[in-house]
Amino acid sequence: MTPVIQTRDLVKRFHVPGGFLGRHPRRLTAVDHVSLAVRRGETLGLVGESGSGKSTVGNCILRLLAADAGQVLYNGQDILPLKETDFRRLRGRLQVVFQDPQSSLDPRMTVATIVGYPLRLQQGVKGTALEARVLAALADVGLQAEHLHRYPHEFSGGQRQRIGIARALITGPDFIVFDEPTSALDVSVQAQILNLIAGLQRAQGYTYLFISHDLAVVRHISTQIAVMYLGSLVETAPKEAFFRHPYHPYTRALIAAVPRPDPTRRQNLAVLPGDVPSPLQIPSGCRFHTRCPEVMAVCPKVAPPHVEMGPEHWVDCHLYG
Ligand SMILES: Nc1ncnc2c1ncn2[C@@H]1O[C@H](COP(=O)(O)OP(=O)(O)OP(=O)(O)O)[C@@H](O)[C@H]1O
Ligand code: SF4
Ligand SMILES: [Mg+2]
Repeated sequence: MTPVIQTRDLVKRFHVPGGFLGRHPRRLTAVDHVSLAVRRGETLGLVGESGSGKSTVGNCILRLLAADAGQVLYNGQDILPLKETDFRRLRGRLQVVFQDPQSSLDPRMTVATIVGYPLRLQQGVKGTALEARVLAALADVGLQAEHLHRYPHEFSGGQRQRIGIARALITGPDFIVFDEPTSALDVSVQAQILNLIAGLQRAQGYTYLFISHDLAVVRHISTQIAVMYLGSLVETAPKEAFFRHPYHPYTRALIAAVPRPDPTRRQNLAVLPGDVPSPLQIPSGCRFHTRCPEVMAVCPKVAPPHVEMGPEHWVDCHLYG
C-alpha cells in the first residue's frame, strides 16, 4: 500500500546571523536527509530533544517551509515541485494542529469563524451549509452549538485545543500533523486530548504525524515511532518492536528514562550527560558520538550504516553494521 505521506532525503537548512554585525551568516542544517513514511490510518510518532528538527520536518511536509532538497510524496506524488496554485487544491487534505492553541487561534474571531475558515477559504462553503459543517466538526471534538459565537479567551486550554482540532478536521483531511498538541496543557487535560485524537482516528481512519519530545505520550498514541537526533533519524520501528528491542544507544537511553507507559507523566528527553551539540557544528561521523555510552573508534570518522534489524525496524549505528 502506498503510504499517505512519505519523505525521501528531506533537507532543510536555515541561515542564521553570524560574525561581526551579522555579516557572515552561518548555515544550520535543521533536517538532514530524513526519510519516513506514514501509512493510512496509522500514527507515526516523531520524538526527539528540543531543536532536533521535528517541527521543521512537519512544516516542510505541509509546505509551510520550503525544503532545500528531497521529496515529499503525498499518495505517491511529489508535492514539493507543485506550483502554489496547484498545491492550494491539496491544502485542505493536509492539516496541522499546533502546540499552543492560545497563539494559533485569532482572539478577535468567534469559534464559528475560526473553525469554518479553512472550509470557506478552500472550498467556498458559506451560510447555513457552513454553519452545519462547523457544528458537526465541533460535535466531533466534544463542543456544542452554544460555543459557536464565543471567543477563544472564553475557553480553557483544553477546550481551545479542541477548537484547533475541529479547525484541522473540518476540511476532511487525509493527513494531520500534530505538533506537540498537548505540551502546553495541564497534565490532567493532556490525557483527555490524547484520547480524543486517538478516538477520532479510530472513528474516521485519519493518518497522523504526531510530534512530541515526550516518549510516554508518543507511546500512548503511535503505531510507528521515529527518533530524531540533531536533524537525522537514528531509529524507526513499529511501536511494539521499538520498546521490546530498542537498538540505538540514544533510543535505549530515552526508554530507560521512561519506566512505565504513562501519558500523564511528563518527561524531559535531556536524559544523557553532555549537552546536545549545536546544529551549526554537527559532529563528524555518527552525530551522536559525543554523547554515546558505546562510542567506538570508527564512530567519529565514518557515518553509521542504515541497518534493517527486523520488519520495518531501521537503525543507524556502527554497532550493527
Ligand atoms: N526559522 C528558523 N531560522 C533559523 N533556525 C531555525 C528556524 N527554525 C528552526 N531553526 C533551527 O532548526 C533546528 C530545528 O528546529 P525545530 O524547531 O525543527 O526543532 P524541534 O525538534 O521542533 O524542537 P522543539 O522540541 O523545541 O520544538 C533548531 O536548531 C532551530 O534553532
Ligand atoms: S554509531 Fe557509534 S557513536 Fe553512534 S550511536 Fe552507534 S555506537 Fe554510538
Ligand atoms: Mg518543535
